[in-house]
Amino acid sequence: MSVALHELVNNIAAVCAGQNQSLPAACYHRDDFLGLEIEAVLSPGWHCLGREDEIASEGDFFTAAVLNEPVIVVRGSNAGIQVLSNVCRHRAAPVASGSGNASAFRCPYHAWTYNIDGSLRGAPLVPKHKLKECRLPAIRSECWGGFVFATLDDTVAPLHESLFELNAQIANYNMAQMHHVVCFEETWDCNWKSLVENFMDGYHLSVVHPQTLRPLTPTRLCEPMISGPAFTGYIANYAKSAPRRKNHSQTLTDAEKRQSKLFCIYPSMVASVSPDTLVYLALQPDGTSAVKVKWGLSVVEPDLPPSEKISRIEKWQAINAEDHALLSSLNRGLQSKLYHGGALAPANLEGTVSDFHNYLTGRLSGYLSASALT
Ligand code: FES
Ligand SMILES: [Fe+2]
Repeated sequence: MSVALHELVNNIAAVCAGQNQSLPAACYHRDDFLGLEIEAVLSPGWHCLGREDEIASEGDFFTAAVLNEPVIVVRGSNAGIQVLSNVCRHRAAPVASGSGNASAFRCPYHAWTYNIDGSLRGAPLVPKHKLKECRLPAIRSECWGGFVFATLDDTVAPLHESLFELNAQIANYNMAQMHHVVCFEETWDCNWKSLVENFMDGYHLSVVHPQTLRPLTPTRLCEPMISGPAFTGYIANYAKSAPRRKNHSQTLTDAEKRQSKLFCIYPSMVASVSPDTLVYLALQPDGTSAVKVKWGLSVVEPDLPPSEKISRIEKWQAINAEDHALLSSLNRGLQSKLYHGGALAPANLEGTVSDFHNYLTGRLSGYLSASALT
């Protein structure tokens, strides 16, 4: 018989408080645990949707989702970015699909047409007085570091306020000035937390990535960077034999020219920034055993030759494929009745995993306590 949900949360809170342990398997495969995560962790969170310069010109847009809420991310006439509901106010068809440039969004069902600020331009054959104040609702959004974030929660603190200390650690990389090259949308067959933990774990680098990362950022050179209520991060130092990168940002310190900094903005975004390249993965759970991933790559150089772009993309495709293959194999192990969680490696290697678990259990415990009081 499975333990009650609140008991499971109490157990993991006790484990996280006392020692560095991985989470029990139940946290990765129970539907009720994911339901609680959606309520307590994901719904109140800020979620990365992509890069600002994916939509550089007025009318540029791409479609996305904030959890299960379909949205359009669009650059408006005042050069600002808005995140609009992608659900027609008539009978709920999506008014936009894919990405592109639009002067208006015309619903494919009955041709209601919306301006790019979300206001209704026209609804064929429907009297105007029936459509007063009809528009696509705007969802709360914020740009930070060149990323577009959105949240479904109007009460959470502004994102940039909670990232102040993280910003101080990575400001020299000038992420906001980097240039979007490409993004991909994929589904990985693992629990969303497994992907966060994996990306933030320097312990696996030399083992899972013997050709792609070990020669550059071997496990033994990883060190902690920073953690806070809304983020965690670590530094992957470059091996002495790793080639020096030429086109790095002018603001980097000598140490930063030989480091990648990896960070997680809770709950669902992980990224790696290096002197010449930024890679991010934005996650949305799709059940307990699958996660939708939008991952993208930006570069420092505005006019990088196509061959070099392809080389950086292929390198990260190879890294992600190695991680994806490994994470797929975890799903089965996490169903095992004999697995109850194990010891984590020291802080320079898996401290970020503990940070994530502490964040998670803090949110879950807080939510359950608040629910018990109401
Ligand atoms: S559902 Fe959009 S116009 Fe009818
Ligand atoms: Fe990896």
